[in-house]
Amino acid sequence: MKRREDDTVRAVTWTGGHLRLLDQRRLPDAIETIDCHELTDTAQAIRDMVVRGAPAIGITAAYGVVLAARARYAQSPSNWRAGFLEDLDSLGSTRPTAINLAWAIRRMARLARSIEGDPEGILLAEAIRIHEEDIEANYRMGDLGAELISGGAVMTHCNAGALATGGYGTALGVVRRAWRSGRLVEVYAGETRPWLQGSRLTAWELVQEGIPVTLVCEGAVASLLRQGDVGWVVVGADRVAANGDVANKIGTYALAVHARRHGVRFMVVAPTSTVDMDCPTGDRIPVELRGEEEVLRLAGRPLAPAGAKAWNPVFDITPAELIDVLVTERGVVHRPDDEKLASFMSHRKASYPTGELLNGPAARPDRG
Ligand code: MRU
Repeated sequence: MKRREDDTVRAVTWTGGHLRLLDQRRLPDAIETIDCHELTDTAQAIRDMVVRGAPAIGITAAYGVVLAARARYAQSPSNWRAGFLEDLDSLGSTRPTAINLAWAIRRMARLARSIEGDPEGILLAEAIRIHEEDIEANYRMGDLGAELISGGAVMTHCNAGALATGGYGTALGVVRRAWRSGRLVEVYAGETRPWLQGSRLTAWELVQEGIPVTLVCEGAVASLLRQGDVGWVVVGADRVAANGDVANKIGTYALAVHARRHGVRFMVVAPTSTVDMDCPTGDRIPVELRGEEEVLRLAGRPLAPAGAKAWNPVFDITPAELIDVLVTERGVVHRPDDEKLASFMSHRKASYPTGELLNGPAARPDRG
């Protein structure tokens, strides 16, 4: 696939017969990669946040399925599916909120069922297709979202950039496109405690491209939005429920409340692989709770006295009523709700194949 000039970072690559992940825990201090040769390495990397961001997790899992199938086939060519489904379950349990994980595994599993002989080539072709489709979707969403921005500043949260996806980014794809087309003067990025995805990752991506970025502590958001420079909040999503409620990084809900209070528009940018039509409302989305040490310590150093506890839900649910626009690769939904999403998801087919979860049987790979 031809790359756009501002599409420079790849967090997930398949190289030399294995998976290579940019270690996002080390950014921006060091650029290091971790190689995964087995399913267990891959699952561990997802759980430990070496790779993060809903679409990137899904793509990583798809490559992880290839590694699992390779190992099972080497053990028992005639009965390689024995144990394979348990492998996929263990991969699927690594992070519960991002639906892209389950979506990608289901798509790979359905294809695996019909394979005769060595599964590796066919599954690898499908994983590559999932990866390429994600980048293509991001380009499309970048164009669609940028058209809605007409000058001023935007605010984003967490990292929904190239690092969080197959490449280019969802929310940051819109930011990149808006910047390139002169529709944007400044980006404010929330630092995003406790993992600091905003400071460490979003700022890293934008600084490299010369896009002006100003970091804000989450506590400064209300004051910033009140000033009136920010026209849009632009964020990604880990899951969009059938009624338009959105799960995204903790702090997104507060940002949406502040945005509505101050007349700032709120845009969610997410591929249709993030839309879960089987999940009726945001209340049904499982919110991942991570360990309290992520809040109590920073870079190994204690931030609080021994004996203090912490509550660490890493996502929250933004009700659909606070969302002005949902941008997907198939088009834009204004003020999403259950009726609009049902009609949008059933009638607007992608111009390229997407997964069977949403669109009928998965496309067969053209390689492998
Ligand atoms: O915990 P993380 O870093 O995986 O959370 C990531 C987010 O919340 C992103 O905003 C979301 O996955 C969208 S990424 C395109």
